[in-house]
Amino acid sequence: MEFRIAVLAGDGIGPEVTAEGVRVLEAVGRRHGHTFRFQEGMVGGIAIDTHGVALPPETVRVARDSDAVLFGAVGGPKWDDPRAKVRPEDGILGIRKQLDLFANLRPVKVFPELIDASPLKPSVLQGVDFVVIRELTGGLYFGKPKRRWQTKRGLRRGIDAMAYTEEQITRVLRVGFELAHRRRKKLTSVDKANVLETSRLWRELAQEMTPEYPDVEVEHLLVDTVAMQLVRTPSRFDVIVTENTFGDILTDEAAVLAGSMGMLASASLAGVPVPHERAFGLYEPIHGSAPDIAGKGVANPMAMILSVALLLRYSLALEAEATAVEGAVTRALSDGYRCADIASEGDTPLGTREMADLIISLI
Ligand code: IPM
Ligand code: MG
Repeated sequence: MEFRIAVLAGDGIGPEVTAEGVRVLEAVGRRHGHTFRFQEGMVGGIAIDTHGVALPPETVRVARDSDAVLFGAVGGPKWDDPRAKVRPEDGILGIRKQLDLFANLRPVKVFPELIDASPLKPSVLQGVDFVVIRELTGGLYFGKPKRRWQTKRGLRRGIDAMAYTEEQITRVLRVGFELAHRRRKKLTSVDKANVLETSRLWRELAQEMTPEYPDVEVEHLLVDTVAMQLVRTPSRFDVIVTENTFGDILTDEAAVLAGSMGMLASASLAGVPVPHERAFGLYEPIHGSAPDIAGKGVANPMAMILSVALLLRYSLALEAEATAVEGAVTRALSDGYRCADIASEGDTPLGTREMADLIISLI
């Protein structure tokens, strides 16, 4: 088969890890007889420097014209001025919104080999394997009003609104129920229903949908409770579904379980994933641009390579190929290979390219 992949490398370590993602896809293509046509697009700080905007229309066109988008990272100190009119982050937020990528899947699995890379006790990390589904096109990120102003007395004020429609909530809950139904059949719906109106709507809609999935056990937890449970008994979770901001915060916390941000992949989908069907999506490691190590060739490419596996699974419906890539990553770890972020004392860490070469050889 032939597939079109949009490649949006962005800033910092984005280009380094994205290049390895592309090489992994090419290797998969050679082994399994697929052709991938890559088309690049500019996004983030580099797009601001070149075009004055973080998401040039041409980039959106390239993305729309593809079967899936491979995304690196955006941002860096150069563009961090809080008074700036344009920000690199507008690139990723804009593309999520314009392509309607409403369901962000962030699988969190603790590889037994990396239990020591996490600051948490091994007993806490045993058996951790869950996926967070984060709503990605609503809530505080996009709600109106969103602005700053000065009062008559010259004092500064700001407002962001947490707004949700029924449709926005139901479609992402649907992804949660479907995934739970196909996994261990346990769904944790996360809200702040004791305080927020949007959360009360969220919980009500989740309760209304529950009878449609009789085999899924649903629990409703408050976000502060989940923040605590994630480090206390993370193995209790199977599928977590939550709104945009809560999901942003909880998934950085969850990354600590996996030992490093360098291990966590993500998929942002424009539809409910159905086995053997292709859903349009964007795939990015959750680690961000990591400006401190950019250009040094030491970034861990595993999060990107695991994102490539998700791309194969959800947007191209190539399950065997996805499993092969994930298997190669697991094998590299069990054979003792590490990048600097997950290395323990005595390990000789591999660089970005070396690690990718090794994984490619194992596919
Ligand atoms: C993430 C990131 C983004 C977000 C930033 C870069 C805008 O933190 O994907 O989690 O807040 O969604
Ligand atoms: Mg985040």
